[in-house]
Amino acid sequence: MADFRLPPNSRINRNGRVHKAPPGARNVRTFRVYRFDPDSGEGPRIDSYELDPKSCGPMVLDALIQIKSAVDATLTFRRSCREGICGSCAMNINGVNRLACTTAMADLGNEIKIYPLPHMPVVKDLVPDLTNFYAQYASVRPWLQTRTPAPPDRERLQSKEDQEKIDRPAACILCACCSTACPSYWWNSDRFLGPAALLAAYRWIIDSRDEATGERLDQLEDPFRLYRCHTIMNCTDVCPKDLNPARAIAEIKKKMVERQH
Ligand code: SF4
Ligand code: SF4
Ligand code: FES
Repeated sequence: MADFRLPPNSRINRNGRVHKAPPGARNVRTFRVYRFDPDSGEGPRIDSYELDPKSCGPMVLDALIQIKSAVDATLTFRRSCREGICGSCAMNINGVNRLACTTAMADLGNEIKIYPLPHMPVVKDLVPDLTNFYAQYASVRPWLQTRTPAPPDRERLQSKEDQEKIDRPAACILCACCSTACPSYWWNSDRFLGPAALLAAYRWIIDSRDEATGERLDQLEDPFRLYRCHTIMNCTDVCPKDLNPARAIAEIKKKMVERQH
């Protein structure tokens, strides 16, 4: 249920630290970065880092890596592939959920504000706690479920057309940009599955090889798990892989109606 009180340690302390660029640095960009260390006992603060963008690669993730390696080793963030594939560097950059590794500094102003994904508990700095997000993903059983035995001499095949139906939804990298941009998810993340998990559910509901469609729909037939989506569309707007979770959710709702007739 929605809790309208801010949790402890959520009020931002105005006295963040300022890390100036070396004298003589030109075309400096200022990164204002959310910092929070739960072990410190202090509330969060915004630290400022002045950086010459030429000192690193062109992406926001390059700047964060440069800050961590050359200016402030305590800055904490997730990243792995730096190619928009692993989904781990999702964060809120200038007010929009995006992947730091595919966001070019040149497309942002001289001041770049970086926060963790919104409305999630923070483990440290830019690292949100995704435990609930992953549990919701697991709850839709994102694997093939069958009753009939597999053919003895080959895989379970599907037509090219059927494969194309799952092609896009299967491209989700579980970055959580969509779910953490969804107002319904902000207020009901304990019970509403959110667009990422529902997109995964849809991917298996429409898979021509899967034989658990009825059970999958039964599991979503709930006022909160599916129907808290009010088609606000933030999810589709922010998806860095150009996927359309809002449409997937609408399609699941359509299937719910169709099976009653
Ligand atoms: S379309 Fe549904 S899931 Fe997507 S942001 Fe809106 S309410 Fe959330
Ligand atoms: S649907 Fe898009 S925004 Fe949502 S988790 Fe998947 S890749 Fe990320
Ligand atoms: S580091 Fe993998 S998506 Fe950005």
